[in-house]
Amino acid sequence: MFKITEVLLTEEQIAKKVEEIAKQIEKDFKGEELLVVGILKGASVFVSDLIRKIDLDVNIDFMSVSSYGKSTESSGVVKILKDLDVNIEGKNVLVVEDIIDSGLTLSKLVDVLQTRNPKTLKLCTLLDKPERRKANIPVDYVGFTIEDNFIVGYGIDWAEKYRNLPYIGIVGEE
Ligand code: PRP
Ligand code: MN
Ligand code: MG
Repeated sequence: MFKITEVLLTEEQIAKKVEEIAKQIEKDFKGEELLVVGILKGASVFVSDLIRKIDLDVNIDFMSVSSYGKSTESSGVVKILKDLDVNIEGKNVLVVEDIIDSGLTLSKLVDVLQTRNPKTLKLCTLLDKPERRKANIPVDYVGFTIEDNFIVGYGIDWAEKYRNLPYIGIVGEE
C-alpha cells in the first residue's frame, strides 16, 4: 500500500516561499508588464497563489502539454494540447511550473516559445529535482531544491490524485 508517509513542505513553508519568489519577480520586472504562463495541470495551484502576491501589471495564460509515452518518466517529446491564447511577441513571459524533474517538458517548451520572439522569457518552478535532470535549462526562480522522492500535493498528482492537498507530501510504501 502506498500512502503519504511524510510532510515535506507545510502550507506555511510554501506560502512563505511563494511570497519571496513573488517579491523577487516584482523587483526584477519593476515598471514592466508581465505575462505569467502556468503549465497545466500541475502548476495551477502554485501559479494562482503566486500571481496574487505579485504587485505588477500581470496577465495570465495557460498551456497544456503532454509528453508522449509518459508513465513516470518524460519521453522528451512534447505535444501542445492547449496553446497560449495570446501572441507573446515583444512581451515579458514568465513560465511557471510546479516541478522540474528531467527538465524535458520545459526545455522543449522553451524552444517553442523562443521562436515566437518574446522580449524576455524566464522560468519559475516551485520545486526542482536536479538529480533527475536530463536537459540543462537555466531556471530563473526556484522555490525549493528537493531530493528524488515521490511527492504529491499543491497541484502535483499521483495518477491524478492528491492535487488538492494544501501541503506537499512524500508518498512511500507502508
Ligand atoms: C509534471 C510536472 C511538470 C513535469 C516535470 O507534469 O507538473 O510539468 O511533469 O517533468 P519533467 O521535468 O521530467 O519534464 P505532468 O506531465 O505529470 O502533467 P500534470 O502537470 O498535468 O500532472
Ligand atoms: Mn505538469
Ligand atoms: Mg502529473
